[in-house]
Amino acid sequence: MSTILILIPRWHPQVWHQAFVKRSINHEIRLWPDQAGDLNDIEYVCAWHPPPGVLRMLPRLKAIFSMGAGVEHLLADETLPNVPILRMTDPELTCRMTEYVTMNVLSYHRRRSLYDFQQRNRIWKPESEHRTSDVTVGMMGLGVLGLHSADMLRQFNFNVVGWSLTPKQLSFQTYHGTDGLPRFLAGTDILVCLLPLTSATRGILNLSVFRQLSRNGPLGGAYLINAGRGKLQIEADVVQALSEGSLDGAAMDVFEQEPLPSSSPLWAHPKVTITPHVAAGLPTEALVDIVLSKIEQIETTGIVSDEVDRKRGY
Ligand SMILES: NC(=O)c1ccc[n+]([C@@H]2O[C@H](COP(=O)([O-])OP(=O)(O)OC[C@H]3O[C@@H](n4cnc5c(N)ncnc54)[C@H](OP(=O)(O)O)[C@@H]3O)[C@@H](O)[C@H]2O)c1
Repeated sequence: MSTILILIPRWHPQVWHQAFVKRSINHEIRLWPDQAGDLNDIEYVCAWHPPPGVLRMLPRLKAIFSMGAGVEHLLADETLPNVPILRMTDPELTCRMTEYVTMNVLSYHRRRSLYDFQQRNRIWKPESEHRTSDVTVGMMGLGVLGLHSADMLRQFNFNVVGWSLTPKQLSFQTYHGTDGLPRFLAGTDILVCLLPLTSATRGILNLSVFRQLSRNGPLGGAYLINAGRGKLQIEADVVQALSEGSLDGAAMDVFEQEPLPSSSPLWAHPKVTITPHVAAGLPTEALVDIVLSKIEQIETTGIVSDEVDRKRGY
């Protein structure tokens, strides 16, 4: 039996607490702050944007679970104790992201918004057709999520190219590092961003990057799909790129500020598709089960999988 603290003040802590209690007969589940009890008991923490300084108050902590795939909210705490940080990865979660990416790539490839517009205006006007192999999808980030999405898109026969921090030997064209970025962008019609938020990637989706995208492909313009993190993008630059034509459309699941303020021009922009950070969403129970199975693994085998490299920041 382990003692687990639920430390997710920004979400619905009671809902998570109940889901954990319901699904973990073998563990004692505590809820921050009112039902945290004696902090000396806590062995595992499930955290999302924990208040800075809380985690260092837990002397018997064995591991911290980030309740999302990103860990920037934890690494921002300078007093973070030196225990493994585990990020949320799971095959089902990966498939959810691939659904989101594929859905949006297909929407651009099949001119969904144009035909929606034509339907609303009773216009029968077929556009010229093109093949998936004529469209280049540029995958920024070739980690767990980026590679899975890339594989699916390649099954549709899209021409996929990738960009990562370190060199890769894959069965499609890849680029890496700052030096490889211009060549990666120059051939890309649809830019998919599945990067983590780090000091190196913050603001990487900016006007200069958008202007380097290919606009000579069969889609007649360039498109952005960002499901990484909101602070990867400069939203004013997205709006500017859409108005000057560097971008022809943007599908955005994440935003600089969440919830996206109602004053944001993105809400009403005809070329923007917004979802409220749900690209890889799973039911609460499924996420709880992922955490519980990882705790089981640590307790029975001592193996900690999906540990974050603190130096790299992801
Ligand atoms: N919207 C949502 O619902 C949702 C859900 C889940 C995850 N996410 C986001 O998706 C991100 C990616 O998840 P993942 O599991 O695929 O992460 P991951 O396995 O850690 O992969 C990250 C990838 O990004 C690359 N990268 C990191 N820093 C870079 C840099 N400075 N320049 C170029 N490439 C860089 C890495 O390169 P190397 O391969 O060379 O290391 C790696 O290929 C998460 O961090 C999270 O923010 C969003």
